[in-house]
Amino acid sequence: MYNGGKILLGLIIFISLVTAPFWLSGKQATAKPDPKIDTPEILKLPESDRQCVESKAYMKKEHMKMLNEWRDWVVRDGVTVYTSTTGKQYTMSLQNTCMKCHSNKKNFCDECHNYAAVSPYCWTCHLEPKEKGL
Ligand code: HEC
Ligand code: HEC
Ligand code: HEC
Repeated sequence: MYNGGKILLGLIIFISLVTAPFWLSGKQATAKPDPKIDTPEILKLPESDRQCVESKAYMKKEHMKMLNEWRDWVVRDGVTVYTSTTGKQYTMSLQNTCMKCHSNKKNFCDECHNYAAVSPYCWTCHLEPKEKGL
């Protein structure tokens, strides 16, 4: 075998470079977003009833779609009340419903959005909740 050492070293460097994105992003994945649900409005709910409009899993996956639907229903169809799968009714409003419970935009919405590198453009028109001392 000729120059086996150099070839091996070259291989090691090559493999490290090729796989770098994977182990680098693996590191990032441990700094998971941690959205906080400890707002006054949510803590006011009885513990047995501390829920979102729909299940947590559904909200996590579908909240963007839900917001679009809410907007269309309100603005196009003039429907203002949403009945959840549990039969509860909510006024369809970003500011007055979602942000009433989730008044901690920075520690809730932004916590995930910064991580996912999305910045919804909603806040140029809709008011952000005023955060006290956060
Ligand atoms: C009545 C108060 C209330 C309202 C109104 C409300 N939420 Fe929630 N939301 C909660 C609570 C409480 C949780 C945590 C549920 C759980 O842990 O089971 C939650 C969870 C979530 C989650 C999942 C968070 C995670 O960690 O995965 C998202 C996303 C979310 N809400 C978005 C919204 C949006 C968007 C709206 C308006 C369409 C909204 N919420 C309206 C109380 C509310
Ligand atoms: C559990 C994490 C999480 C929480 C909490 C959360 N979001 Fe999101 N949101 C996401 C992710 C991830 C995306 C991007 C999804 C995609 O691109 O498919 C997103 C996308 C969106 C979008 C669409 C943006 C776009 O450019 O497509 C809107 C609108 C939105 N979120 C609103 C909210 C609001 C309002 C809140 C707070 C009440 C909130 N989200 C809380 C994870 C979260
Ligand atoms: C160019 C300005 C503008 C932007 C940007 C905007 N909206 Fe709206 N939105 C409006 C107006 C105006 C209404 C109608 C208000 C009314 O009828 O009371 C509305 C209504 C809504 C409604 C139903 C009523 C309510 O009070 O919430 C929802 C839900 C909504 N928008 C969600 C969103 C979301 C989510 C985003 C970001 C992805 C967004 N909007 C971005 C202007 C805007």
